[in-house]
This record gives sequence, C-alpha cells and structure tokens, in this order.
Amino acid sequence: VSLRRVRLVMESALTARDRVGVQDFVLLENYNSEAAFIENLRRRFRENLIYTYIGSVLVSVNPYKELEIYSKPQMERYRGVSFYEISPHIYAVSDNTYRAMRTERKDQCILISGESGAGKTEASKKILLYYAVTCPTNDHMAALGDRLLQSNPVLEAFGNAKTLRNDNSSRFGKYMDVQFDFRGAPVGGHILNYLLEKSRVVHQNHGERNFHIFYQLLDGGEDDLLITLDLERNPQKYQYLVKVVTFNCLAQGNCPRLSSVSDKNNWKVVMKALPVIGFTEEEVQKLLNIIASVLHLGNTQFGEGEEGETYITTETQIHHLSKMISPLSFEQALSARDALAKAVYGRTFTWLVEKINQSLALKVHSKGSSVIGLLDIYGFEVLQHNSFEQFCINYCNEKLQQLFIELTLRSEQEEYETEGIAWETVQYFDNKIICDLIEEKHKGIISILDEECLRPGETCDVSFLEKLEDALGGHPHFVTHKLANGKTRRVMSREEFRLLHYAGEVNYNVNGFLDKNNDSLNRNLKEVMCQSDNQILQHCFRREEVIDQKRPEMAATQFKNSLMKLMEILMSKEPSYVRCIKPNDAKQPGRFDEVLVRHQVKYLGLMENLRVRRAGFAYRRRFEAFLQRYKPLCPETWPNWHGRLSDGVSTLVSHLGYKPEEYKLGRSKIFIRFPKTLFTTEDALEAKKPEIGCLGVLYMHVCVCVVIVIQSGWRGMKARRRAKRRRQAAELIRRFIKGFIYRHEEYCPENEYFLDHVRYSFLKNLRQNLPKSVLDKNWPTPPPLVAEASEHLRRMHMRNMTLKYCRRVQPEWKKQMMQKVEASKIFKDQKDSYPQSVGRLFLDSRLEREQINLKVVQTLGNDKVQYGVSVIKYDRRGFKPRPRQLLLTNTFAVLVDRTKIKQRMDYSAMRGISVSSLSDGVFVVHMPSEDNKQKGDVVLHCSHVIELVTKLAMMANKVSYVNISPGSIRFAVARGKEGIIDFVRGSELKVAKGKRGHLLVVSQRLY
Ligand SMILES: Nc1ncnc2c1ncn2[C@@H]1O[C@H](COP(=O)(O)OP(=O)(O)OP(=O)(O)O)[C@@H](O)[C@H]1O
Ligand SMILES: [Mg+2]
Repeated sequence: VSLRRVRLVMESALTARDRVGVQDFVLLENYNSEAAFIENLRRRFRENLIYTYIGSVLVSVNPYKELEIYSKPQMERYRGVSFYEISPHIYAVSDNTYRAMRTERKDQCILISGESGAGKTEASKKILLYYAVTCPTNDHMAALGDRLLQSNPVLEAFGNAKTLRNDNSSRFGKYMDVQFDFRGAPVGGHILNYLLEKSRVVHQNHGERNFHIFYQLLDGGEDDLLITLDLERNPQKYQYLVKVVTFNCLAQGNCPRLSSVSDKNNWKVVMKALPVIGFTEEEVQKLLNIIASVLHLGNTQFGEGEEGETYITTETQIHHLSKMISPLSFEQALSARDALAKAVYGRTFTWLVEKINQSLALKVHSKGSSVIGLLDIYGFEVLQHNSFEQFCINYCNEKLQQLFIELTLRSEQEEYETEGIAWETVQYFDNKIICDLIEEKHKGIISILDEECLRPGETCDVSFLEKLEDALGGHPHFVTHKLANGKTRRVMSREEFRLLHYAGEVNYNVNGFLDKNNDSLNRNLKEVMCQSDNQILQHCFRREEVIDQKRPEMAATQFKNSLMKLMEILMSKEPSYVRCIKPNDAKQPGRFDEVLVRHQVKYLGLMENLRVRRAGFAYRRRFEAFLQRYKPLCPETWPNWHGRLSDGVSTLVSHLGYKPEEYKLGRSKIFIRFPKTLFTTEDALEAKKPEIGCLGVLYMHVCVCVVIVIQSGWRGMKARRRAKRRRQAAELIRRFIKGFIYRHEEYCPENEYFLDHVRYSFLKNLRQNLPKSVLDKNWPTPPPLVAEASEHLRRMHMRNMTLKYCRRVQPEWKKQMMQKVEASKIFKDQKDSYPQSVGRLFLDSRLEREQINLKVVQTLGNDKVQYGVSVIKYDRRGFKPRPRQLLLTNTFAVLVDRTKIKQRMDYSAMRGISVSSLSDGVFVVHMPSEDNKQKGDVVLHCSHVIELVTKLAMMANKVSYVNISPGSIRFAVARGKEGIIDFVRGSELKVAKGKRGHLLVVSQRLY
C-alpha cells in the first residue's frame, strides 16, 4: 500500500508541475529550445502564473488584469524566505535584494526592462510598495514611505501619456534610489530622470495623447480654476491636444479619450499627492499656470502680412511675444512657438523632479546607510516611423544590454571561481560593436550628428544622412537605402538609415534629427522667460544661460553622458533583473501572442541568459541548505549530520546514486548540472514526507533549531562586542599616537585626547602621592602643560594642611607655638644656641612650686608667679657670681635670694635685654639706674637663656627691645660708669673676670 501511495504522490507532483511548467527556466530539460521556453511561459501565463525565474532573473508577463497576488498577506509570505522555496514573485526579488543589501552591506539595484507596455512601471511600483509596507519604520519614515509612493502619480501625470502601446506609457526614463539606514528602514530617496519626450507637447501620433496632466486639468479642475486659467473644459479647443502626426505630416485630429484611465480621478490623486511631497499651494498654482500657458501658446496663431512679416492673430495672454517672433518667417514663427512650449514643459518637468528630490532627501545623515536603486527605463522601441527619440531609447537599451551581459557573465564566472569550479565559456552576442557604432568619439553616429549641427553652411537632415553614409558605409550593423542590396532597398525610404540592433533591425527616419539634437530656443524667447514673475520659470530659465555665449551640449551628447553616469551608478551596485514581457498588443488579458512574445524573448536575450546559466550548472545550493532539505533521504544524515558539511552532502548524494558528471562540490555549495537529477531527488523527498511527519522528530528538530538560533545569536553578539572593543582600542591607540606627535601644539582636535590624558594621569598620580604633613616638601613633578596648575594646587594643599593642623592645636600647644614663633623672631640666625633650642619645649616654669619660698609668695601677694628659673647673678663690680631665682609675674620680675626678694624689675621701666650672639647663657636686663627702686642693669646667666629671654620679652611686651650683640655688651654700673662683657668662642663655657676689668665669657663652639 505504501509503495503505491508513494508512486501516486510522485505522479501527482509531477503532473502538477507539468501543468504549470517550471518555476525556473534553468530547470527546463530542453534549454536550447526557444519553443520550449515560450511554451513554459504560455502554460504558466494561462494559470495566471506571470512570474518565472531564469536563475536569479525574474521574467514577468503582463497579465493585463488585476491578480490577487499583491496583498499584504502575500508580502508577508515572501518576507525573509529563500528564493527557491516559494513561487516566483516580484516580492521575492524585492525581498532578496533587500536582504542582500542588509547582510552583505552592498548597494543593490533592480533593473527593470521590457518594451513599452510590458509592465516595468507597475513592477517598480510594486517593489516600492513592498518596501514601504514591510520595512521597519517610525513616524518620520512612514512619512517618507508616503512621499516615495506619492511621487509616482505626480511624475506619471507630467511624464506619462497614452500611446498606441500603453495607456500609461512613461515618456521619460527613471532611476530611483531608495536609501535605507543601518536598521533597514527607508530614510531617503533620489530620482534621476532621462530624456523626456518633449515633442509630444506639441504633437502626437495618431491615436495617442499629450501628457496626462493637460487632460486631467481640463477634466478634473474646478470651474473656478479653469476660469482663472482662462481655459475651456473641452480639450478639442487646444491645438496641442489635437494635432497629430500622420505619415510625417501634421494634421488636425480627434483628441482620443482614454478608456482605462479616469482623468478626473487621477486629477484628484495628483492634487492630493502634491502637498504630501511638499508643494505649497502657491507652487501648485504656479505649476498649473505653466500648464495652462502651454495650452494657450499652442493656440497662438500667426498670419502673414503683405510684406511677408508675421503677426499674431490670436488674442492671448502672451501677445507681447509678437515682437519677438515677427522678424521670423511664418514657418520659423511656428517652430519658435513650439520650441518655446517644449522648453517650458521640459524644464518644468526637470524642476518637478528636483522638487520631489528635495522632499525625499535624506534629512539626517545616517551612518552605514545602503541603497537600492530601481531603474524603470523605456524599453526597446520599433515604431512604424522611428525618429530621434527612438534612436536614443534604443541606444539606451543597447547600453543596458551590454551591462546585463557583462554583469551576468561576470557574476556567474565569479561564483564558479570562488567555489573552485572550472568554467566553460558560452558564446553570446557581444553588442559592444553597436554601442561603439553609436557612441564612439569622432566616428560614431552621435559625433557625426553633433558635427553636422555645428558645421557652418547649409546643413540639413539629408546632408547628415550623407555624412553617415560616408563615415559608416560598410559597417556590418549600418545600412541605408544607397548602401543596401535590392531586397532591403525595397523596404527602406531614401530618408532612412537602418541599425541592426542586438534586438532587431530598426529604420530611423532622419527628418528632424538635426532640430531635435540642436534643441535650440531663440535667445530672445529665453530672455523673455527670464523676466517671467512665475518663480518656477525663473528657476528654469536662468539669466546666466542667456549671457553665456558657450553653446550648450547637444541633446544626443547630453543623453550619452547621462547614460555613462547611469552605467557607473549601476556598475557600483549588485544588480537584480526583472525582464518584462508584453503578451499581446491589444492590452487584453488572457491573450498570448506567440510571435510577439518570441520577438521579446529574443531581444531581451533571455535564451542567451538561460544558456549562460545552464552552461555551468542548472542548480546550486549552499551545503547547509541542501543537507537540511534532503537529509531525510539518507540514514547516515538523518536526523542530523555531525561531521563536516561537505562530507555530509557527499554521503547524501552517493546514497542517492548521483553520478560524478551530474554534480560538483564547490567550497560551500553543491552544483547540480541537470534539472532531472534535482527532480528525482525532490520527488523522493515528497514521497518520504509522510514518513518523517512524526511529531516527536519535529519537536526535537524544532528544539535543535531553537538552540542553534540562540547559540548563534549569542555567539554573534559576543563576536560583535569583541569586534567593537577592538575597533575602539585601535581608534584609541591611533588618537594617542597622533596626540603624542602634536603634543607641543596648542590644544586642538588632534591632541586633545592625549593632553587630557596627560592631565588626567598627573592628577591621578598626585592624588596618591600628596604630602601627608606640612613638613613634607615632596611634590610630584608636573608635566610642563600643567606646571602652573600644579603650583596652585601645591599651595592650596599646604594651606589646607596648615589650616587643619591649626584647628587641631590645643591651647597649651598654641601657647608653646606662639612662644616658639616669638623666639624664632628674636633669635633665628642671630644666636648660636638657637637652633638647638628649637626642638626643646619651653616649660611653664623651671622651678617647682615647693622650690619657691612661701614667704616670697606671700610677699608677692596677688602677683602670681608665672614663671620661675634659677639664674646666676654677677655683681656689676667684681663680677662675683651669686645664685638667685628669677621669678616673672604679669607686670614685673624679681630676683630672689632664697627667702628674700633682692631686686624688683618693673616691665614698664625695662629698657631692654641684651644677649650675645654666641652659645652662652649670659644676658643683661637694662634697667634705669637713676631710679633707686630699680637698681640699674642686671647681669645674669641662665642655662635656658632662649626660653627665659623669650618669656620675659613677651611678658614685658618688649620683644623688639631684645638686642643681640656679637662681640661685647655694655651695661650701666652706678653713676654713669659702664661695664663691659666680652664674648669669645672657646672649647668650653667659662665666665670669669678678664682683662681691663671686663667680664669675659667663653662660649662653647657648637658644630
Ligand atoms: N502586474 C500587473 N498586474 C496587472 N496589470 C498590469 C501589471 N503590469 C502591467 N499591467 C498593466 O499594463 C499596463 C502597462 O504597464 P506599465 O505602464 O507598467 O508598462 P511600462 O513597461 O512601464 O511601459 P512604458 O515603457 O510605456 O512606460 C498598466 O497600466 C497595467 O494596466
Ligand atoms: Mg512605464
């Protein structure tokens, strides 16, 4: 039973696939057959499967009906899903491109090509819509998405028209960049426009119309508006809307109505869109003024005067133009008028694009932004009468074809190279020869055309044709009536040249080539336009242009140059392709015109594309993906393979019985040569599915997947962090080195980091090495940069430490300090014994209380002894030493001999104190000798002379009266007599009577 079921499942899968062909042409068994190719397209088209791949190229057939495949749920289906896992769709291309941009961080572009009416513009709109709906956004970005989408109806109103092939044909080329920020949100856009078909403004082919905006205005504009613009609702009233070209002659025609589009509705859409993309009410008004004035201009009629002069016969707003036109002949006047209408419309269109670009411009520069470009450019065009415009359009398609060939071949080849697989070259038609024929400097058609336009003397379109024949006769892709053989000659007129394009042969009629290439506008008309008070026209017609004598570039050369730039833009991006095919010329759904389709398949180069793709391998898949999908087919790889991926794939394919010629293993991908091999494998998988549908396994599988996802997410995050740290470190080192080089310069961006670092590290070091006490004079050496600041800090720190110290000091200690400070003032650097005294504390008294006789204390009464010390008094005559006590009270000092006060010295009367500069303890208290009570000068010796003299001087408030004498001290003996003490240095202290009755004091030398 199970075997039968397997066979049934296999068969139904095969028939289902058969019915709708293959999703990827690469899987076509008979890939060389154009018929098989077209049959596959037809089958799918019949089932409304309008999309099919050739590898990564999307082929799209216009269904000419609304399909239910563009809804939001459909968009969701394609989000983040691999190309081959789901049916082909424009959303798959959009999503794949988007993901490639995000993961590979490389700019992408989607090139949409195909002939007029094949669905290019629709495709580009679907892509934009996909991004606007599925990409992450916020309010600002949503507004941008809106503007991106709304720019379309506006551009279409002004740049699209009904043609025989397409009711909404783009009459300009468009390249649009959508910019995305690092999160993948659309943040900006930019449009480049190419060669608007301006001739349409003044006349159209039979059955075609002028640009939509004219009809939209007339049909949709409110009555008031039309009155202001002096317009009538009936388009038949306007020459530019009824003039048709039939067989190269202008004629009055009927203004064709559009069945598929409602001008009135579209008018509303455009009027709503304009404010969204940033047009003010005033700008809209100015824009409509211009549109109306073009219509009025078309109705300007001329009459011929008796003397051949031309005058305006119609009363219009622009009748003042008559002065400018009148010197011209009737014909010249008409063509000057038309040239003006074309110039005004063409330049206004360019202004419109600029204005849209301002509204889409990236408002904030975002880092790491990437771009997806969309190219919707006119497809290859062969009309009954082909003119300059078709020449340019087809040239553009040649260039795109060249790019397509180069990029598809190159990327295919690159893939084989990176995977280490030998590449087999494919023969393809290289259209460089045609591109050169058109664009080569000096020799190409464009150069010859320019030369003919600039050449002095009689030039006309026919002389241009002759020049072409002279220069290009014999070129394999160029033919004229004269150069052709009989058969071709019959189908060519004498005014035509034929180019053998890669896509087919096209005859171009040279009539109007020179004029259109010149695209010149009478200088006087330009001047008038400069004076217009319509700001848009002021912007379009610049005064500099009138003054500038240099001839502007010719139209074809301008186009050539803009194409070169476009090619550069496209080359710098990773391309994806959408090739659009038109199934019938009648714009009808369900009709598949085989001849028409075959022609398009041919000139889109789809068969070549397929051959290139198939020359190598029909199918390729990364090892992980291949193994993941087909592992249930081999017991060794199911449920999980734990070895190397390539070994797993190898085991799997040998189990499946792949023959060596059927496949190759690259470095990261398996390449399968024939689609059949893949089908067999796919069928086997289908058959196996019921068996492996067990929930338990699935659960386990899900768990494993979840773990892998979490693990890889975590690893990714760690790696990103590490990479970020490395980047920061490298940046830091770079800044450090640069800063070091610039370290002697003023503070500047190059060295700011380095200098800040130097400051910072000095301060940090200082903080750890601050002096701990006032006496510690160490201070870290500052770098020159902070020397001044360092000095300020040092002082502040010292002051702070001192302040703290002072606050901590007890009253006792404070007294001690004050006395020490006074001692320093008196003795520092004056007396030899001073330094020794500094470290010794001054005592409150040198005598114990009991050492002072009670009687003395009683005698002193209220005058308390503040300090007492033993001294030796020397008689002034004979210098006899006598031991005494010297007691200091608050107002006087007394000399005491045991119980008796021998002498009282009032501080107020004290004249001074003399000490020697040596290390001895002798000192003299000078007292007035006239005063009996005071008994005159006293010569004393004390071993604490510094302490005693300091205290005495302080208590007597006579610090400044202390006199330090280096050699000798004179003192008063009674009645005007004088005694002298001589001081000398010696080995030890000795006080004795010396020569001439002096007292000799020998002081010990201190070292
Ligand atoms: N995917 C689609 N679904 C439904 N209708 C479509 C689709 N693509 C195209 N069409 C129909 O075909 C018409 C022509 O398509 P479109 O304007 O995109 O052609 P085009 O290739 O841009 O032509 P041109 O070169 O003239 O600008 C559309 O107006 C629309 O009616
Ligand atoms: Mg289009």
